[in-house]
Amino acid sequence: MKIGIMGTGRVGLPTGVGFAALGHAVVCVDKDIAMLERLQAGKIPWVEAGLEELLRSQMGRMRFTIDAKELCGADVVLLAVPTPSRPGSDASDLSFIRQAVGEVSAAMPCPAVLAIKSTVPVGTGDVLQAKLRRKNSKLAVVSFPEFFCEGTAVRDFFSPSRLVVGVEQEWAREVMDHLLRPFADRCPLLFVSRRTAELVKHASNAFLAMKVHYANEMADLCEKTGASGADVLQAIGLDPRIGNQFLRPGPGYGGSCFPKDCRALAAMGRRWKVPLRLVRATIAGNEARLKAMVRRILSTVQTIPCPRIALLGLAFKGGTADCRESPMLAIAEGLIANGVDITVFDAAADGAKNLSMVRVRHAVDATDAATGADVVVIGTEDFYQLDLGKIRAVVRTAQIVDLRNVLDADRAKCFGFFYLPIGEKPPPNG
Ligand code: UDX
Repeated sequence: MKIGIMGTGRVGLPTGVGFAALGHAVVCVDKDIAMLERLQAGKIPWVEAGLEELLRSQMGRMRFTIDAKELCGADVVLLAVPTPSRPGSDASDLSFIRQAVGEVSAAMPCPAVLAIKSTVPVGTGDVLQAKLRRKNSKLAVVSFPEFFCEGTAVRDFFSPSRLVVGVEQEWAREVMDHLLRPFADRCPLLFVSRRTAELVKHASNAFLAMKVHYANEMADLCEKTGASGADVLQAIGLDPRIGNQFLRPGPGYGGSCFPKDCRALAAMGRRWKVPLRLVRATIAGNEARLKAMVRRILSTVQTIPCPRIALLGLAFKGGTADCRESPMLAIAEGLIANGVDITVFDAAADGAKNLSMVRVRHAVDATDAATGADVVVIGTEDFYQLDLGKIRAVVRTAQIVDLRNVLDADRAKCFGFFYLPIGEKPPPNG
């Protein structure tokens, strides 16, 4: 088949490369010429395990272009353009979607499937389909939501947990069925209504965000009561009705999806007059958590004049360089607002570039960041192998606040650190 991809970002590119690897001819369209040139040279401007190698191996089947006309003749065009929150509102900004649909319909006079991978509010497909019909377009709008996680997008493409296709026309269903046949023996393939598929994505992300927030709340309760958060969460996760994933307590959820999708779902609730109290509580709880994390860090240095704080890891999770809606950026800003000096290190060099530069030093590595620090804060899972001996030798005060529970408490204590993980009653300090 000939497959078109509109938007070569973190969803569009792995999807395009994946379908090329399955033997399809893939045309990728994007507005960003610099990005297209890099992709053409086999380079990916972000961190995604295995994607660059796969891209290079599939160059023969892939084309990168700024010109949407090259989509002409495609059987399926997958739309993977961003749908950020609208400025000053929780609702999604659909302007990139509208523009992309206009370009695709102008380029494609013949019947073809236009599959929306971007996360859109329920009913968007209906509106787009009606518009296309008015323009006599022969495109069938399908909702084909994406469940890739950053860092595992290649694995997620080839081994999805499920594929959900929202479709209203039988011929479009047949096209999608043909495209997705290689996955039929790998995962459930759900053909549902377009509105259903649109809602699945939001419902899924908000549920996972809620689960993370629940783990965070239980961790807080464990700290106060003297129960062990790690043990409580492990024990509840062993119940197959609950499941052990997304129960790791941390600094709060972040990233380009959970925060935005929760807000968009809450906005949908308001629009359709359904209160969605759990979703709203999750959003408010996660925001409050960021402030609580700032207080937690400051509590370790309250008796130290002019304290220095080292933050290791600024991305929204380990294994990525992505700082979009990262809890660690919000925490860094909260610390700066409290007038303390911070030193940051993230192997993803551009991680901190959004931080106000006043009161921030950018370190070259973890040891450099920790030099002279009064507390070292672990912000992402990437620091699980931190050399505690080296860190102990350079800090001014031996304290670690581990917001990801990646270090071994006994080891940290052996090196003389006051060690504060999430979900365990704090040991006496000093
Ligand atoms: C998410 C969805 O998981 C994915 O299906 C969707 O397609 C895109 O959004 P991603 O943004 O890559 O993927 O991040 P994810 O791994 O889901 O983590 C989201 C946030 O929750 C991160 O900040 C992460 O640190 C946090 N998290 C996750 C926890 O704090 N604890 C957990 O147990 C799991």
